Amino acid sequence: MALLVSSPPLNRRFMSLIIAALFLIGLLWFFTPSFDSVRHLDVPALLHYSDPPGVSAPPSSSAGSGLQPKPNHPIDHLIRRAYADIDALLAKETHDVHAAAQAYRDRRGRQPPPHFDAWFAFAQNHSAVIVEDFFDQIYSDTAPFWGVPARQIREQANDFLHRISVRDGNVTQRTDIDERAWMNLWQDMVQSVAQWLPDVDMPINVMDESRIVVPWEEIDGYMQRERASRIIVPQEELKTYYDGLKGLDRNPPEKFDAEFSGMGPYWPLAVVGCPPESAARKAYIETDFSTAPPLDGQYPKGSYEGYVQNWTLAKSPCDNAALQGLHGTFVEPISIANTKKFFPLFGGSKLPMNNEILLPPAMYWTDDPFYSGGKEHGQPWDEKRNGLIWRGAASGGRNKESNWKRFQRHRFVAMVNATSVEMAETGEQTPLNFALPANDTYDLAALTGSTAHSSSKFGALAKWIKTWSNAAVVHLLCFPDPNPPHCAYTDSYFSVSRAMPMKEQYAYKYLPDIDGNSFSGRYRAFLYSTSLPVKATIYEEWHDSRLVPWVHFVPMDHTFVDIYGLMEYFVGNGDAGVGGHDDVAKGIAMGGKAWAEKVLRREDMQVYVFRLLLEYARLCDDEREVMGWREEPG
Ligand SMILES: *[C@@H]1O[C@H](CO)[C@@H](O)[C@H](O)[C@H]1NC(C)=O
Ligand SMILES: *[C@@H]1O[C@H](CO)[C@@H](O)[C@H](O)[C@H]1NC(C)=O
Ligand SMILES: *[C@@H]1O[C@H](CO)[C@@H](O)[C@H](O)[C@H]1NC(C)=O
Ligand SMILES: *[C@@H]1O[C@H](CO)[C@@H](O)[C@H](O)[C@H]1NC(C)=O
Ligand SMILES: *[C@@H]1O[C@H](CO)[C@@H](O)[C@H](O)[C@H]1NC(C)=O
Repeated sequence: MALLVSSPPLNRRFMSLIIAALFLIGLLWFFTPSFDSVRHLDVPALLHYSDPPGVSAPPSSSAGSGLQPKPNHPIDHLIRRAYADIDALLAKETHDVHAAAQAYRDRRGRQPPPHFDAWFAFAQNHSAVIVEDFFDQIYSDTAPFWGVPARQIREQANDFLHRISVRDGNVTQRTDIDERAWMNLWQDMVQSVAQWLPDVDMPINVMDESRIVVPWEEIDGYMQRERASRIIVPQEELKTYYDGLKGLDRNPPEKFDAEFSGMGPYWPLAVVGCPPESAARKAYIETDFSTAPPLDGQYPKGSYEGYVQNWTLAKSPCDNAALQGLHGTFVEPISIANTKKFFPLFGGSKLPMNNEILLPPAMYWTDDPFYSGGKEHGQPWDEKRNGLIWRGAASGGRNKESNWKRFQRHRFVAMVNATSVEMAETGEQTPLNFALPANDTYDLAALTGSTAHSSSKFGALAKWIKTWSNAAVVHLLCFPDPNPPHCAYTDSYFSVSRAMPMKEQYAYKYLPDIDGNSFSGRYRAFLYSTSLPVKATIYEEWHDSRLVPWVHFVPMDHTFVDIYGLMEYFVGNGDAGVGGHDDVAKGIAMGGKAWAEKVLRREDMQVYVFRLLLEYARLCDDEREVMGWREEPG
């Protein structure tokens, strides 16, 4: 087979220069004074990037050895831009409580809450990177509560059945059954900072799914009141303590009925949380999910030449109405218990249109290797297999004969299955649940006929996929009978494979991460690993504003139409004469790991919960408008 590589050496030098420059920027960032703790960095692996640009080309350790990457790839552009974004973010780091308080006032338009100094001391004592923007999620979750009376919030919270409470630094829980693992973990998380906390009652969502969708118009009203209430109260007028909840304990509130309802489908309930002019609010509501999904193989909306450039947009069901037929959450969730009532409810993840208050997920606090991946984070990059692995249950909702073609995990597994792709390429079978990139949109070597013989065009994509893909379900989770792991309606399209512990998966370089029934609980472990997470999701989590796509992980569209382009960029297509960017992948994998070890630690979750509960306790206090931390002069 002929390798069609004959570009001039100059071109190659130029690319090396760009790559070297890219990593120099990355390195500078790692070694700025604020990043004094680089102990955990795999420094030897990164060191060769510090060679002056042009002196030595980064070695291409695997795929397409001797081949060169395509020049001016859109992903090069996206990565370069992302590095500029993280630079700007890190320039905002604060190192003393006065600067942190000023950053708070600048960003939030209020005085920081009482005990802010204790919070800052805790964060600093635990070597946290303190950038005010890292806490944005707290403010988007809690802001609307400024629009409802404090008394209403604390009374609803106090009455809610599943509840974690802090009184004088003691943490207790209440729920309906003896043991709820998540409740115990969250209680432990809160307990770890409770000695500094004011009294709070935290209603807890004990289900997987997020549960509150308040109509957008109602939330907008609360947000207007929130904006109107913003004021930097002068120091001398501040009330600097919390009243506590003893009064409430002495006079238990009226019963509060959250009015949860189990009636679906979910999409019509969810879209009321979207802005009136959004695509989702205007979309036709689908009811028949038995047909092939609405995919056209074109670039995803808002993408940059096919790749995710606005992660918020890519994740947004409000902006992507097609998601109603492409994600199990909307097609048919396992269960629905939804309410339109606005009240405080804490949970581990939510959709952009939900109104829960996010905590770091309980499964990120556990040591259970099923979620945490255990103590091993994988072998050195260069010892890994140059491919992608995915193992998981076919979860996402209640998949049935009449709707399974719309589920995201089924779709992903089929799209990286060489056999099903080959049948699609040859026309043997029109894909049931996915679409290949149409009309050469991604300029894929395997699809553009740039292989040696044009007759090999058919099947070229499948042949190439086979060289890097290893994806399989471990259970088909069919409805109504989830046992055994097989079932008639999906058996001919998927083979069930044995489950594989995370540490075995780390033997592969690329780790796609796809939503299950809600968010994927292994994401944190993937970030901590020496492999590269490739992430698609519609869920929000506590850490979103501290992770930058293309710097710490690779973002993927929920249609997965970009998966082939992503993999060609990273692993190349040796058969078609296209080199990969192994070093770029390694840089993101190792950079993401080093970053996780700085900002996703248990200590960082404590810092987040500490800040969140100071803010929440203030919201529950009748004098919240004048409460704040008094900064002693000097
Ligand atoms: C921070 O560390 C100092 C010195 O060890 C200690 O006195 C203080 O109690 C700690 N504060 C917090 C909130 O962790
Ligand atoms: C906190 O817990 C301790 C030990 O269980 C107990 O002695 C104390 O009375 C508790 N305080 C409150 C306010 O509940
Ligand atoms: C990204 O998309 C979101 C959601 O549609 C939008 O609000 C935001 O302005 C976009 N950001 C940029 C930089 O375009
Ligand atoms: C691909 O291009 C052909 C010819 O231009 C056009 O007829 C067809 O609709 C296109 N397909 C898609 C999915 O856009
Ligand atoms: C790949 O697809 C073929 C054809 O649909 C199917 O028979 C096979 O079981 C699939 N493999 C996996 C791992 O799901």
